[in-house]
Amino acid sequence: MSSKADRPVRDDFVVDNQGRPAIERYTPNERSNHWLTAICFVLLALSGLALFHPAMFWLTALFGGGPWTRILHPFIGVVMFVSFLVLVIRFWHHNFLHANDRQWMKQMGDVLNNREERLPKVGRYNAGQKVLFWVLLVSMVCLLLTGLVMWRAYFSHLFPIGIIRLASLLHAFFGFVIICSIIVHIYAAIWVKGSIKAMTQGTVSYAWARKHHTAWYEEVVDREQGHARRAAERRDPSAPVA
Ligand code: HEM
Repeated sequence: MSSKADRPVRDDFVVDNQGRPAIERYTPNERSNHWLTAICFVLLALSGLALFHPAMFWLTALFGGGPWTRILHPFIGVVMFVSFLVLVIRFWHHNFLHANDRQWMKQMGDVLNNREERLPKVGRYNAGQKVLFWVLLVSMVCLLLTGLVMWRAYFSHLFPIGIIRLASLLHAFFGFVIICSIIVHIYAAIWVKGSIKAMTQGTVSYAWARKHHTAWYEEVVDREQGHARRAAERRDPSAPVA
């Protein structure tokens, strides 16, 4: 009879919230980090649009009126930048573009028509997600720099009026770019069923990983088989290694 120590325990493998075997895609810290960034983004988009055009000034009511919107917007911007920077430090190494990513982009027709079986094997992220990652990073850096130049309370007195005007133009441009990018990001997250669960509960099914991120799935399975082999060897060092 096997001893208690031989039997697998709950912590030996990941399960989803219904107890089915699953792969952990995001840790709780990564998810909190992502959602803090997302909440800041929504607040910034609403307050930014309110300050951008009189037709949207009514949105200031959400922030306690015009002056409060103007005070809060840059502070929330700094929080989002720092939170996003932590996200970048966590994920940048997964977002380098390789030859198979360029091929993936060339086959955009297959991507949009859900013919995933014709595409090259995708790793942890597909080329679209990777390009979006770098667009977000460039936009965030430009929004921070131009925002600091325009920040009347602390910095704008350090710059000539021509630079402040240019900064406000560029700030609006990158604001537009990031809003469009996040709309695409949310659309893709809803379109690829199972992605939202990855960011809310942290796990994806093996089937999801194999279908959408085959190369990543193979890496995960390889790693898990390695763990299982080592665990079996620890339990019974005399057993033949498969
Ligand atoms: C506002 C609503 C948002 C939703 C519903 C959303 C949803 C998601 C989902 C489902 C994923 C997981 C995708 C996967 O694992 O394949 C993800 C990843 C990610 N999200 Fe969001 N997101 C939102 C906002 C944002 C914002 C505002 C940012 C940053 C400006 C952001 C940056 C990222 C990054 C960096 C990743 C990892 C992907 C990579 O590294 O390429 N998200 N998001």
